[in-house]
Amino acid sequence: MTRAIFPDVIDALSQHFDVESNQDDRIFSSDELIAKAAGKDGIFTTPSERIGADVIAACPTLKAICNMAVGYNNIDVAAATQAGIIVTNTPDVLNETTADFAWALLLATARRVTESEHWLRAGNWNKWRYDTFLGADVHGATLGILGMGRIGQAIARRAAGFNMRVIYHNRSRLAPELEARANHAQYVGKDELLRSADHLVLALPYSPQVHHTVGAAELALMKPTATLVNIARGGIVDDAALIAALRAKRLAAAGLDVFENEPAFDPAFLTLSNVVLTPHIASASEPTRRAMAQCAAANLIAALTGGSPPNILNPDAINKG
Ligand code: 8YV
Repeated sequence: MTRAIFPDVIDALSQHFDVESNQDDRIFSSDELIAKAAGKDGIFTTPSERIGADVIAACPTLKAICNMAVGYNNIDVAAATQAGIIVTNTPDVLNETTADFAWALLLATARRVTESEHWLRAGNWNKWRYDTFLGADVHGATLGILGMGRIGQAIARRAAGFNMRVIYHNRSRLAPELEARANHAQYVGKDELLRSADHLVLALPYSPQVHHTVGAAELALMKPTATLVNIARGGIVDDAALIAALRAKRLAAAGLDVFENEPAFDPAFLTLSNVVLTPHIASASEPTRRAMAQCAAANLIAALTGGSPPNILNPDAINKG
């Protein structure tokens, strides 16, 4: 187990395996990670650890890599498949919690919640003014969603209460019944999404193909009054371009739970008042983080005891193994 995790999940795993845990939550260098993984049958990991082809090649006894996350861009799945190693993730259990948090960020960003709180805490509030912290309306606005998977759809459903029009762009268009359930979301091209959204939420998985999918050119298409929310992954947005757009007020505000190179994010974000910044906590409700840990553990137990892991990402690995 590469990181600290709920003790009862370690106990559950210990009923099946000899477990080497990391409750001190030390961050391993890649050499340390390889040394720890060598000779093991399975790895329980999180997206903070890169399990690349080097780790896989150095650990010929490995049979399963189980990620405690829906995203798995930290793992070289192709190399794992080639080596006959099962890879799993934790989909679904975090959809609703992550969608809740996307809305928390959207509302906080559009209505300047954290910025005004910092101002109040600093003792600046000595009179009411008609234009103190004017923000953007959320109700009645157009919500854009880039990446309309299970989390994107859960975000869209919540827009009904705000009487919003929902538009989305995705690799492929949803079936009509799914669009209807997602608050009658309307499929549009990426440029139209960028141009028309009052509030744009990013909910797509990271892959090298979507690196900097929102960069300077895309930000230039957005309304200067728009809000951008990223609950997906660092690297989808070009952070330097975003900082430049926010600084120049070419974009009104951004709510960000993920960053390039996190946790060592670009410190220039801290100089901006029109951002809400959170430390990758969109799935961090008590029940959901527990469900994710239990899901990853169930996958690991199934993978190493001859069962079929519920969330296998590379079924081809089984025939190779
Ligand atoms: C995780 C996430 O909390 O599931 C994902 O892909 O990004 C988050 O829910 C985080 O990656 C740590 O496990």
